[in-house]
Amino acid sequence: MKKLVVLSGAGMSAESGIKTFRDHDGLWENHDVTQVASPEGWAADPHLVLEFYNQRRKQLYETRPNEGHVGLAELENFFDVHVITQNIDDLHEQAGSSKVLHLHGELKKVRSTVDESLVYELEGWQLNWGDKCEKGSQLRPHIVWFGEAVPAIEPAIELTQQADIFVVVGTSLNVYPAAGLLNYVSRGVPIYLIDPAQPMFTPSSNITFIQEKATTGVKKLINMLKPQQ
Ligand code: OAD
Repeated sequence: MKKLVVLSGAGMSAESGIKTFRDHDGLWENHDVTQVASPEGWAADPHLVLEFYNQRRKQLYETRPNEGHVGLAELENFFDVHVITQNIDDLHEQAGSSKVLHLHGELKKVRSTVDESLVYELEGWQLNWGDKCEKGSQLRPHIVWFGEAVPAIEPAIELTQQADIFVVVGTSLNVYPAAGLLNYVSRGVPIYLIDPAQPMFTPSSNITFIQEKATTGVKKLINMLKPQQ
């Protein structure tokens, strides 16, 4: 089976009702990123940070995968599909994708502030000030904040290098190291880019731009890939 690697971003979940970050009325237009998504913000006002992610988590529990997520999961019938996602939701998993690598953490998980190897599934949507890990320290969202290392980037690079087909869905490719993964795609490997907005890199013969939202774009992708199974 050919290895099909997907890099997804916030646009993947937009049609499920989750706001993107940089579009008009996106999350970063309405929140100060350094206050809610950085170690400095956490140090200054952990209550604000906890509340920000509690609201995101609460919303996630009311959200369902869209046809784009489902379409990518169904591609597992024909390809060895690996999803690398910048999203912290679990909509790829809910749709049935079996190999999902989260670059920026997972909303439904929390971790210790003294030992980052202590990661827990949170029951329900609320993480509160005073909720502690087994070592007695405050728990924090299991999210990669700005200025923090991205431990999953190494396996993501490996997957990208092994890809026979590379698909990018719903990311502005503004945030590194995730955006840099494109540089690791092997020469000649076809790249499909699904996004309703214009891509920010120059066209080349191996890049096919599908200017669509994730739901309709994934459908088109599946039709294009059928001959390659
Ligand atoms: P952005 O908000 O930067 O980009 C969203 C992309 O999705 C844009 O290119 C939109 O054109 C596109 N888009 C909008 N609606 C869409 C739809 N229905 N279908 C497909 N695409 C659509 O989000 P990301 O690139 O994911 O990190 O942002 C990367 C990282 O920046 C996030 O993981 C987050 C953020 O700060 C952290 O919080 C650590």
